[in-house]
Order: sequence, then C-alpha cells, then structure tokens
Amino acid sequence: MTMSSTSEQRRRDYDAALATLHERMRWAIAGGGEKLRERHKTRGKIPVRERIELLLDPGSPFLELSPLACWGLHGNEAPAAGIVTGIGRVAGVNCMLIANDATVKGGSFFPETVRKHVRAQEIAWDNRLPCLYLVDCGGAYLPMQDQVFPDYGHFGTIFYHQCRMSADGLPQLSAVFGGCTAGGAYIPALSDESIMVQGTGRIHLGGPPIVKAAIAEVVDGETLGGAAMHARVSGVTDYLAMNEMQALQQLRGIVAQLNWKTHAAAARQPVRAPLHDAAEIPALIGTDLRQPYDVRAVIERLVDASDFNEFKPEYGGTLVCATAHVHGYPVGILANNGVLFSESSVKGAHFIELCNQRRIPILFLQNITGFMVGTEAERGGIAKHSAKLVYAVATARVPRFTVLIGGSYGAGNYGMCGRGFGPRFVFAWPASRIATMSPDVASTVLTDLRRASLKGPVDEAEIAALDARTRVQFEEQSDPYYATARLWDDGIIEPAQTRDVLGICLQLADESTPRFEGQSPVYRM
Ligand code: COA
Repeated sequence: MTMSSTSEQRRRDYDAALATLHERMRWAIAGGGEKLRERHKTRGKIPVRERIELLLDPGSPFLELSPLACWGLHGNEAPAAGIVTGIGRVAGVNCMLIANDATVKGGSFFPETVRKHVRAQEIAWDNRLPCLYLVDCGGAYLPMQDQVFPDYGHFGTIFYHQCRMSADGLPQLSAVFGGCTAGGAYIPALSDESIMVQGTGRIHLGGPPIVKAAIAEVVDGETLGGAAMHARVSGVTDYLAMNEMQALQQLRGIVAQLNWKTHAAAARQPVRAPLHDAAEIPALIGTDLRQPYDVRAVIERLVDASDFNEFKPEYGGTLVCATAHVHGYPVGILANNGVLFSESSVKGAHFIELCNQRRIPILFLQNITGFMVGTEAERGGIAKHSAKLVYAVATARVPRFTVLIGGSYGAGNYGMCGRGFGPRFVFAWPASRIATMSPDVASTVLTDLRRASLKGPVDEAEIAALDARTRVQFEEQSDPYYATARLWDDGIIEPAQTRDVLGICLQLADESTPRFEGQSPVYRM
C-alpha cells in the first residue's frame, strides 16, 4: 500500500468508529424516550438537558462526563445511567452540575448512577468546584438495592461527600424538581441551600405508600412533602419557586452571591491554534493498534502552535516527554511511542520531577502494551526502573490528566497514570482498548497453561475452544464502550474534541481555589 492509501484506509476505519460513537451518543441523549419525555413535559417539567442549558451562562461550554454510562447494561434501559453530570459556567463560576433524568426509571439510581454521581463529586472536590444538584429522583433503583445501598462508594458515599465538601468550603446547592423519596430526599436535605418547585417538587423520607404501610396514615404526596409545606412549615427548603424557570433563576442568583474567587496561578500565554489540524489524527493513527505511528504527529495536533519542547529526545525514545501549551496553559506531556524500556521509564520519572518543580500539570497520552519483558530487560532491572516511573506518577504534586489514545494494557496502564493513580480526568478515544493484555496474548497464556496442566494427551478441540472463548472475552471486555459503561473513564471523546476538553481541564486545575483553614460545613437548621 502507498502512504496515501494507508492514510485513507486509516481514516475510513476511524470514521466508522466515530459513526458508532455518534449513534450511541444519540441513545444517551434520548433518555427514557419520546413518550416519557412528553409525559414529563405535560407535567410542566423541563427535560434534563434543557434545564442544564437554561442554567448555564449563554455560550458556556459544558464538559459532559460519562454520557455512555450503562451502555450495553440493564437491557440498555438506563441511558446515561439516568443522570447527567458535567462542568459548566453559572453566573461566571465553573460548577459541577449533577442532574437526574426522571424519564429514566423515575431518575432512580442504578449501580452506575451512583458511581457516576460519586465520580462527579470527586471531580468537583479535586477541582474545587461548587456542586449544583438538579434533583428529580426516586432514590435507589429497588430491584438492585444491594448494589447501590450498603457498601463504600454507594449511596452513603454521596451524602458523606456532600457533608465533607461543604465542610471543605465547597458550596452544595440543590433545586428540587420532582419527587424525592428516601435517598433522593437527603440530597437537598444535606445541601447548604435548596430550592423547591411548587406543584412538582416533593421531599419525603417515605412516600405515601411507605407511610401507609409503616404507620397506617393515609396522606397525599403534596401534604406530606410538597414545596409550600417545606418552605413555610418544616423549613426543609429555603426558597419556593413557582415553576422550573424560576427555580433555575434562583439557583443562578445563589451562585452569583457566593463570593467565589478563583486562584489562577499559571503563566498563561496567548492561545495559538495548532498549525496542523486535529481532524487529520484519524488518518494518522487508524483503528488497528498494531500499526505503529509517531505520536509526535498527534501532539502537534493538540498543542498551541504545534510547538513543543522535547525532553531528552535522544534517550528512551519509546516515551516522548515534552512541555507545551494548550489553550495558553502550560502542560507537560508523556506520550507512548512504543513499549516502555528501563531508559524510557526513568526518563519519564525524571520528567515528572521537572513538572513538579515547575508546577506544570501533566498529560499522559496512553498507547501502551506494557513494560518490556524478557531476560535482557529483567537483567537490566526493568522491575525497579518501571517502579520508579510508577512511583513518580503516584506521588506527583501537580494535577494529572490521562487520555487513552490507543491501547492501555497491563502495568503500562499504571505507569501511564491509569484510573487507579487518581488523575483528575480520564478520557478515552473511540478506538482505544483497555485490559490486562490483548486477546492474542491472553489466549496464548491461557492455552499454554491448559496444555501444561493436562496430564494425558492434549485434546486439541478443547484447546481451540478455550482459545476462541478467551479471544471473545478479551475482545468484548477491552472495548472502550465496555469500559465507559462501567465508569472506568470519564467519557469517550473524539480526537478532534480533545484539545478543547484539555483546555477546560487545565483551566479548572489552574483556577482551583486553595483550601481555607478552619472551614466548617453548613448545617441545615
Ligand atoms: N426503584 C425502581 N423503579 C422505580 C423507582 C425505584 N425507586 N422509582 C421509579 N421507578 C420506576 C417505576 O416503576 C416506573 O417503571 P416502569 O416505567 O417500568 O413502569 C418508572 O420508574 C417511572 O416511574 P413513575 O412512578 O411512573 O414515574 P413518576 O414520574 O410518576 O414518579 C417517582 C417518579 C420517583 C416520584 C415515583 O416513581 C416514586 O415515588 N418512586 C418510588 C420512590 C421510592 O419509594 N424510593 C425509595 C428508594 S429507597
């Protein structure tokens, strides 16, 4: 194949991957579907994404997180896990928005809904963002209560985070649009301030059926937990809104009065567009992870003016380390250009130390099969040299961001700041893969082990079946949609969106306000 026909093929393959992404995004955005959306509207309620648009400042970007949560799970009946989370500007302040979609099983919480909610809170905490909860939810999805209620990271953690974030000076504000029972009730009840919409907003620890069962009291929902009662009698809410539009305006008003100061610290440069177009990335990289390319061509399409300064360019060539700017913000980049050897590992560790000292956030571009194996590598001390990189990644004192642009396999995932190492955000490209190892390697390992453990003659049909099973399993489980459905990342993004997404992440990191000493939580009285 000629060079240009290779690029053409790669672009076509990537276009197909992008078409799949777009189709699945339509599933996420449709929520519970047209019928339930219409029912929602006839009750005077605004669909969740429109609420968000109305709340945000005109022209504000909205960095949506994990829109494809639950893809392929629960019969695909919980689009986006029934909750929209993301970061946008409200009254000039970057805020985390956490908004239930009541058209998806009454906004009740599936395991992935809880995970997505908790993750959004973690991101808000890391980036020092106020949290705005647009509450419209039926609490735990009861058929799966064992997977959302009792454990660490379940519903209790949502409430724990609310209290701890408030104590840490991060405003927790709620607007209640629908029926909030049990778990749903505590989100507004634990907020610093809350608003309720007259007529549709309800807060009760137990709804009418529970009250009837528990104490034989027969009562309607409005009397039990309506907005007017809570604003005038119980004091559970602070503001009564006549309709949703008014509630959104009141929420904007509260944010405008937060006296919120950001803490911009970076020596920001003027923003310069890359000289090379990010739309060319698909033709450069394709979807076949076995085909090599020079990752510098990707970096050139992400950074300002395509200008970057490479550290140790003559040494450890399989890891490109470079400083650059994205949307004017300084960034240090570690990008794989092959398997990690001892030299590339220690170079990466050294580079992270430089970023720490200069307070430059770090971006990891992962396309990694792992650290080098074999006698030569072991005798060269790959275990201790790779550990130095892992150590440096784990203890870095600057914000870190990770984008899976290709493979993310084995310990390479750890050395390049996978989820377990606490990067502020993890995004994946649509043709990335994540697993302990590739299907080829996994099938070799498992069939070899099986052959070794068989005492008698080898049954080749059994080995072939194991080989086929293993390949299917690893193909399915390393798929990026498998990962994003389970919240292993913060969303799949397109190569062409990546520069802008990173710009938002870097801005958030730069503006993270410092912690105040002696801050106390806001207790609802
Ligand atoms: N668990 C499981 N399913 C739930 C649910 C929950 N907590 N809350 C709602 N659903 C389901 C309903 O069964 C219905 O499913 P279907 O479409 O398959 O029939 C769907 O979500 C929509 O519910 P519906 O009651 O028609 O919506 P609504 O907008 O009129 O009311 C609520 C929404 C949340 C106010 C209402 O469903 C409700 O009160 N749910 C129970 C809340 C509760 O007791 N939670 C306790 C949690 S610990």
